[in-house]
Amino acid sequence: MAIPIVLDQSSRQSLQSQIFDQLRQLILGGKLKPGAPIPASRVLADQLSISRNTVLLVYDRLIAEGYLQSRRAIGTYVNLELPETSLAAARRIATSSPVTTEMVNRPLIPFIGQTPSERKIRHLDFDFFPDRLDPDLFPHKIWLRYINKVSTATNTQFSEYCDPCGLLNLREMIADHLGMARGISVSSDQVIITAGSQEGLNLAARLLVKDGTLVATENPCYQGAALLFESYYAKLVPVPVDEAGLDVEKLPESGITLLYVTPSHQYPLGFTLSIERRMKLLEWARRCGAYIIEDDYDSDFQYHGSPLTALMGLDDYGSVMYLGTFSKSMGAGLRIGYLVVPRVLIHAARSAKALLNSGHAWLDQAAMAEFIRSGAYGNHLRRMRHLYSKRRDCLIEALHHHFGSVRLSGLESGLHLAWHLPDDFPDAHRLQELALQHGVGIYSIDSSTAYDYGRSSYSERTLILGFSSVNEYQIRAGIQRIADALAGQPVDSSLSSKTVMGS
Ligand SMILES: Cc1ncc(COP(=O)(O)O)c(C=O)c1O
Repeated sequence: MAIPIVLDQSSRQSLQSQIFDQLRQLILGGKLKPGAPIPASRVLADQLSISRNTVLLVYDRLIAEGYLQSRRAIGTYVNLELPETSLAAARRIATSSPVTTEMVNRPLIPFIGQTPSERKIRHLDFDFFPDRLDPDLFPHKIWLRYINKVSTATNTQFSEYCDPCGLLNLREMIADHLGMARGISVSSDQVIITAGSQEGLNLAARLLVKDGTLVATENPCYQGAALLFESYYAKLVPVPVDEAGLDVEKLPESGITLLYVTPSHQYPLGFTLSIERRMKLLEWARRCGAYIIEDDYDSDFQYHGSPLTALMGLDDYGSVMYLGTFSKSMGAGLRIGYLVVPRVLIHAARSAKALLNSGHAWLDQAAMAEFIRSGAYGNHLRRMRHLYSKRRDCLIEALHHHFGSVRLSGLESGLHLAWHLPDDFPDAHRLQELALQHGVGIYSIDSSTAYDYGRSSYSERTLILGFSSVNEYQIRAGIQRIADALAGQPVDSSLSSKTVMGS
């Protein structure tokens, strides 16, 4: 590692003192962190084309003053415990730093985005947060096997830039999968591998959204999409949803450039867009010249019958972009998803992706391609579908058992459901708060990862319950806790997630 030191041969300051000052600044400014290794004296002397002795003298002085530490046979390091006098000097440097004055004159940062809700794990006894998977269900062993296999193969591509749109193998497999599972007939050059659907959304927005663009979304909708479009200065246009999904009749007849929609399992309410509305929606897009982003985030989990054909599979006009993700089927930490674009957008999407990050990491793509090709992905999906369907049934049964004939939506597919509260229950925010006080996480629309424009009939009386990160024992115990809390009963604290016995 070369250290950023620049010597001025014409300066009246000695070389030794220039090196001393610059190294000291790097340490005090935090650029060289405590414990960081310093290049050997010979290496730094070579880098700066000076005598090694000069460097040795500087190092000796920095060691004597407590900035560096030398360990025999290991090397020289930044001292782990900088002396108080040097820390005081660091504070002086920080407060008198020219950065503060420069900042005042800098132009405003044009970015206006808000950070989406935190998805980090809360330490509750039972947490029904919708966007989380059970970490024990990730197929660690098999995944590691494929990571090893591809990284030791002869045709690794660690040292090269890959196609910015992604590894051809993987794109072909995704195109095949979409044909079979979603009725979408596309070629691999329409598939772009992304870091989850979030990057796919960014890519689509980069192509179509600028200051003032009208973007329609469902109300409520996925926060990751609404906040993203806002960050591109789009004007959001909320469109209501009902039990048959987006209310297509309420879409404006002109002006909309882009519509973001979740037809398979409306996020967050779980409704399925009916086939009649799908056809009307495509007709609307053709009439108005609008594009549609179809976010099919959890369609791998269908519990009854076959899923309806995806919008993109019904589209004859090239209006639909399709977003897919492995975040729900494998894990969000993998950050692998894809955007499928109509042919007319292939070229623009390719350029945008190349400019964004020159393509997704090769290793993950190669392992995922191998994972799918070998059949391991299909097996994993079948296992997860079976397990989640049992958890879903367990949750429905527990809600019925404690609260009678509950009104639920989103049961046919996905990893969460919506519970519409009856009039004699507290509202969603109050019930969420009560449950939280008793160690249970259930979520009103605006505290899940949904974006609620605040004018929907669901805002106050709907709770979202995910069942992908809680096992059957936890589901029963968590719902019982809510029932006890509502009835004013003392909570049975022997029922906690620590007493979990399998799923
Ligand atoms: C509606 C919706 N779309 C997409 C995603 C997945 O996002 P990503 O692929 O960026 O992890 C989620 C995650 O929970 C979601 O709820």
